[in-house]
Amino acid sequence: MTILGLESSCDETAAAVVSDGHRILSSLVASQVKLHSAYGGVIPELAAREHLRNINPVVDAALRQSGLELGALSAIAVTSLPGLIPALLVGNAYAKGLAASQNLPLLGINHFEAHIYSAFLGRPELLADSANFPVLALVVSGGHTALVLIAADGRAEIMGATLDDAAGEALDKAAKILGLGYPGGPIIERLARDGDDRAFAFPQGLRGASGRMVPPELRFSFSFSGVKTALLYAVRERQLSPQELADVVASYQRAVMEVLVSKTILAARESDARLVCLCGGVACNGYLRRRMSAEVAGIGRQLRLAEPEYCGDNAAMVAGLAWHYARFGLVDDLTMPVSARLPQKLGRLPFAPDFAKE
Ligand code: KG4
Ligand code: ZN
Repeated sequence: MTILGLESSCDETAAAVVSDGHRILSSLVASQVKLHSAYGGVIPELAAREHLRNINPVVDAALRQSGLELGALSAIAVTSLPGLIPALLVGNAYAKGLAASQNLPLLGINHFEAHIYSAFLGRPELLADSANFPVLALVVSGGHTALVLIAADGRAEIMGATLDDAAGEALDKAAKILGLGYPGGPIIERLARDGDDRAFAFPQGLRGASGRMVPPELRFSFSFSGVKTALLYAVRERQLSPQELADVVASYQRAVMEVLVSKTILAARESDARLVCLCGGVACNGYLRRRMSAEVAGIGRQLRLAEPEYCGDNAAMVAGLAWHYARFGLVDDLTMPVSARLPQKLGRLPFAPDFAKE
């Protein structure tokens, strides 16, 4: 079964053709980073107009690269939530039109689930083995920071999430404060290479490192508003030399990433997760990948890092996840709505090995 996936929930217009959930025949991403960088964040109306401009050429190129005609597709999948409503509407209207005209099933995909699935793209053997479950996934992007525990039957539980900013958002806002541009994550990673990451003692939210008690129910939760404010005060009314700037961003990056690592390890220990997955745009970060690899090995668990190419927003993860729903006949119709928010509870994830047995 070959599925065309579309993604337009934020500032990337993406299309991909994926066979049987894992064989990526093409995956294209048209980024709008340049358009939004002047504003230090994504402007929803501008994003929607740019999606409208890009979606046809991106879909055409994805089909061309896959070597397939529209007639060879088995279904159309599109991110339907969560995201910026004007941006989502473009991809969803396009997907509905295509599904209707080609008489193909339509699938609305949850972007958060798709980020989790990105860790398994091209690795069916990891999913086939129930000994890898429960799986603990850290989803860490511009919109999300959450630890999700997935049982072998697909039940997914959010063990902890951010109470305020997402980790990527904390990096983006720091870059904005420092006047470095958008998106902040990759810029900060690059500048941090020349910095001393111990030069500034930035707070690590809800970690208890400062001696302050973390309430037990918040032990897997995240908070990045404190570190952001600390940065604001540290650089306020100061002219930073290039070396000081490198030291600031290195220390800031360390503070953000160390919380992610320590909470993931705590959750892996308590949940007895066999396999830990790292996914989402921030999972591109080299510091985070290295530190997570070292610490997960230290507690004797397996680690799967999503391929850097599929960490950020893309449509391969959408088309790949859609196949798992489609093979169980779990498809949508043209009345499918879009939504800005994640549902209160995650559903069961169809890529888990014992999903069908329930
Ligand atoms: O997954 P993604 O493309 O979009 C969302 O669903 O949010 O993630 C974007 C986020 C941005 O906050 C960006 O700054 C961050 O991922 N990011 C990084 C890196 N590359 C992208 N953060 C740290 N290091 C990177 N190399
Ligand atoms: Zn995303």
